[in-house]
Order: sequence, then structure tokens, then C-alpha cells
Amino acid sequence: MSSNIIAVTCVLLLLAGCQDEAVTSTIHKPDNSTDKVLRSERDAMLNTLIQQHGLTGDVLQGRILPAIESPLAQLGMQLFFSKALSGNRNVACASCHHPLLGGGDSLSLSIGVDAADPNVLGHKRLLQGKLRPSVPRNAPTTFNIGLWRQFMFHDGRIAQLEVGITTPDVAYLQPDPLAGGNLVHAQARFPVTSNHEMRGELFDAGGTSQSCRERLAERLGAYGVSGEARLPAAETDYWLDAFRQAYQQPHAPATELITEQTIAAALGEYQRSQVFVNNPWKHYVQGDVAAISEPAKRGALLFFREREAGGYACASCHKGDFFTDEQFRNVLMPQIGPGKGSNTVTAVQQDYGRWLVTQHPDDKFRFRTPSLLNVAMTGPWGHNGAYTSLEAMVRHMLNPFQAALHYDSGQLKQPNIPTEQVAVNLREMLSGNADMAGQAYQEEDVQYLVDFLHTLTDPCVTSADCLQRWIPSGGNSPESVLQARF
Ligand code: HEC
Ligand code: HEC
Repeated sequence: MSSNIIAVTCVLLLLAGCQDEAVTSTIHKPDNSTDKVLRSERDAMLNTLIQQHGLTGDVLQGRILPAIESPLAQLGMQLFFSKALSGNRNVACASCHHPLLGGGDSLSLSIGVDAADPNVLGHKRLLQGKLRPSVPRNAPTTFNIGLWRQFMFHDGRIAQLEVGITTPDVAYLQPDPLAGGNLVHAQARFPVTSNHEMRGELFDAGGTSQSCRERLAERLGAYGVSGEARLPAAETDYWLDAFRQAYQQPHAPATELITEQTIAAALGEYQRSQVFVNNPWKHYVQGDVAAISEPAKRGALLFFREREAGGYACASCHKGDFFTDEQFRNVLMPQIGPGKGSNTVTAVQQDYGRWLVTQHPDDKFRFRTPSLLNVAMTGPWGHNGAYTSLEAMVRHMLNPFQAALHYDSGQLKQPNIPTEQVAVNLREMLSGNADMAGQAYQEEDVQYLVDFLHTLTDPCVTSADCLQRWIPSGGNSPESVLQARF
């Protein structure tokens, strides 16, 4: 290409980038309909980026996920909301992953077995006394959980292998024979074994993760367990009936039907039914130019454009229709809370992230790139909830180094979160391999990006009415159902 052509192209690009007023042009809708639509220049530029990034708006891409009405998802819903799956019958999965809280808990750091009032959820959920949080990470949303192809958890410690799934119960990269048929089933077997999340200190004390799961199944099935661990007969009758219906085995005995595997499978199907992908951005990608606002379109341009083209290249990690490349990166997230650990005695309240799984030096401080679908509803943000506004989170992603250096722990709404080590830990993170440098950014771009991120919210997740199908109605629920108050 001659230098002349390059110069002309650049001028055109510059003009396009500066264009504020809508210039109209006509292009075909992707659905091949013959009617032409008028689009602004901005829409045309976005359309090009959408093609370049291979976006279709159809994140499911033929994947079959269960309907919430399916018998197994219905059983899973009752289990997900049941406190009977925790050692002291005081925590349910829904205590930390409630549909009305964006599939999370609205806390920076989750509160499990030590809650002051087990039925209180959301901002008002507190630890007993002056306890400091013991769960080191933020609860990710369970919404769209069935769309992950490779990893569960912030550090990916459950992973899809070519054959099978690896979990913390086996050596990394070895298949776990008990992992079940998909990542979500595999994951559902772990929260019940965590002392801080659900198990408590006393249930099946001295037992293994597997024996803990089996004791819980025995409790639900009223076989094996004795004493305080037992459930009232009315409840165990309920479960036997519910499992028989869901698995369509009307005469099977509890010993065969209510096992740690059938429990995890049902929990998995319920969560996999939480598909919330019907957002304005999808409609925009599929041709409805009026689906999102002009400021959001500006944000989209900034999100998808490369740096050289005046954007922030967010999509280099938040890729595709699911907005994640499922890779691990060190983006210098301020390390608040107790931390999950490190290999040094000097580093406290630290979290080595992916390194804890692989022990690979490059993986220190790396965490899985989150999906951004429904991100406006899933705060606080970051693997430890360090940011309590989407705006602050976006500022961090624009310039991680500056944001981390000036991190304001005053934004935390939850009491007693340790933050003493943030500066020390940042120094350690910087000595490693930060995967993102700081970059200068335009002040007004922050709000454009936030506006764009809001277009990724499926209206259903903002509507209690719409979400009602994913919440047990009460009437036909067992006694142990979580009586949530917000
Ligand atoms: C005390 C709060 C708490 C409870 C109770 C709890 N979770 Fe979680 N959950 C978390 C936290 C925190 C994480 C992130 C842990 C990590 O990545 O290291 C998580 C991670 C997950 C993930 C992985 C999400 C992802 O994007 O990879 C799923 C799925 C999940 N939990 C489902 C469940 C199920 C099913 C139950 C009940 C059996 C449950 N959780 C109980 C707090 C909780
Ligand atoms: C180098 C890869 C990379 C790039 C580029 C990137 N991100 Fe991220 N993003 C991540 C990772 C990794 C996390 C999670 C970090 C953690 O929790 O420690 C994250 C977290 C987020 C979150 C919080 C999500 C949640 O659920 O907690 C938002 C919002 C976000 N990024 C938006 C953006 C925006 C906007 C841009 C562009 C300005 C961007 N990101 C650029 C990798 C990236």
C-alpha cells in the first residue's frame, strides 16, 4: 500500500472518530430481510467491530440448557434453597447466591456459617460479634453459569479436561471420577465441604470431603445418620418424594436415590437453568439499532476498539458474546480481606490466585476473566469485592496501577474487612507479572463504558416477578427452606 493511501485512510479514520453528529448510511440487516435501515456512522463503525470480533449476540450457540420447569431443575431449586445441606442447618447455597441479589450476595466477601442471623441476606447480612470475614473471595453470580466452557471458580480449580473434569479432590489435571457430567455439577459438590461456607467445624468432624457429602445425603435420605444431624421425619418424607418424582423412580429406596451425586446433579441443573442473556446489547448486535442509547454506543466503541484506534481494548480479555476469554490475568486487584494464601510466610492477607492451583510462577495473582453479562447487577466487583461501584471498577480496568495505588477502602460497605496489607501486597503484585499496564484515559469515557456495561443486563434479573420462577414458592417447600429477609 502506498503511503498516500495510508494517509488517506488515517484521515478517514480520524474523521470517523471525531464524528459527533449522526451521518446516515444504509446497510442490510443481518437477518437478510430486504428492508433497509438507516444507521448513524457510529452504528456503522460498531457494525464493523461486531463483525471483526465475531459477535452474533447468540451466546448460547446451540447449547442446550435445562428449563427451570424441568423436574430435575425443580428438585435442584429446593435443594439450593435448603439449609439442610449445611452442617448446622444454617446456610443454603442461596444464602450466597440469591436470584434477587444478581445470583450473588451483594457482599464483598461472603458470609457463611458465622452469620449473626442466618436468614438475613444482602447488605444487612453480618458476622456474629466482631468476627472478621473468613471466606476470602467474592461470590460470583450463578447466572449463566452453564455457559462456562473451561473453568469454575476465580482460580479455575475445577476445569474441563479433554476427557473428564479435574477438581480439588484429585491432583491437578487428573480427572475426578466423581466430578459428574458437567462443570456445574462438579462445582456443586464443593461448597458443602467448606467449613466456612456450609459445613461448620463440627459436622462429620475429622471426615474427608467425600464423607461429608455422604453424611449430608444420608441426612436427607434418613439413612445412616443419627442424633442431632437428623432431619424431622416430615422433611425426609418430603425429600424422598421429591427425589422419586424428579428422577422418575417412584419406588426406589432413599439409599439408592438420595446420594451425593444425585444431589449435585440436581443442584447443577437448577443453576444451569439460570440463563439470562436477553439483553439490549444482544438485540443491538442482532440488528435493532434503537436497542441501546448513543452514550452506550460510544462506550461499546471504546470497549471493542484497539488502543491504536482510540479504544481501550477491553475485548482483548472480555471476548466474544460471553465477554470472557476464560484465561487468567493479573490485573492488580487491591487485595482486601483474609486472602486465600500464598507460599511465603511474609505475605499475609494475600491471594496468589491461579498460582494456588498450578504453582506456575507466571500465574501469581492471576484470576479468571469474568463474564460481563449482567455485570451491573453482580457487584461488589473483583475476586474479593474490592470495588463497590461499577464506576470505580471500570476506572480500575482503565488504569489498574493508578487505581490500585490510590485504592480507597472507604468504599467498602461491609464492616471488619481487613485492608491493612493492601499497599504491601500491591508491591508484591507489581514485582510479578502484571498483565495490564496503566493507560491514560479520558474522564468522560468512564461513564460511556459504564453505560455500555448496563446494556448487558437482561431485564429479567431486575424484576422480582420475572425471577419468581427460580425461587421456591414456599407452599411446597421443605421445612429447611431459607426464609430470606433482605
Ligand atoms: C458462604 C457463601 C457461599 C455459599 C453458602 C455457597 N457459595 Fe458458591 N461461591 C461462594 C464463593 C465465595 C465463591 C468463589 C470461590 C472461589 O472462586 O474461590 C463461590 C463459587 C461458586 C460457583 C462458581 C462460580 C463461577 O463463576 O465459577 C458456583 C457455581 C457456586 N459457588 C455454586 C454454589 C452452590 C451450588 C452452593 C451450595 C451447594 C454454594 N455455591 C454455596 C460463596 C458461597
Ligand atoms: C488483560 C485482560 C483484561 C482487560 C484488557 C480488561 N479486563 Fe476487565 N477484568 C479482567 C480480569 C482478570 C478481571 C478480574 C480480576 C480480579 O477479580 O482479580 C476483570 C474484571 C472486570 C470487571 C469486574 C467484573 C466482576 O464481575 O467482578 C469489570 C466490570 C471489567 N473487568 C471491565 C473491563 C473494562 C471496561 C475493560 C476495558 C477498559 C477491561 N475490563 C479490560 C481482565 C481484563
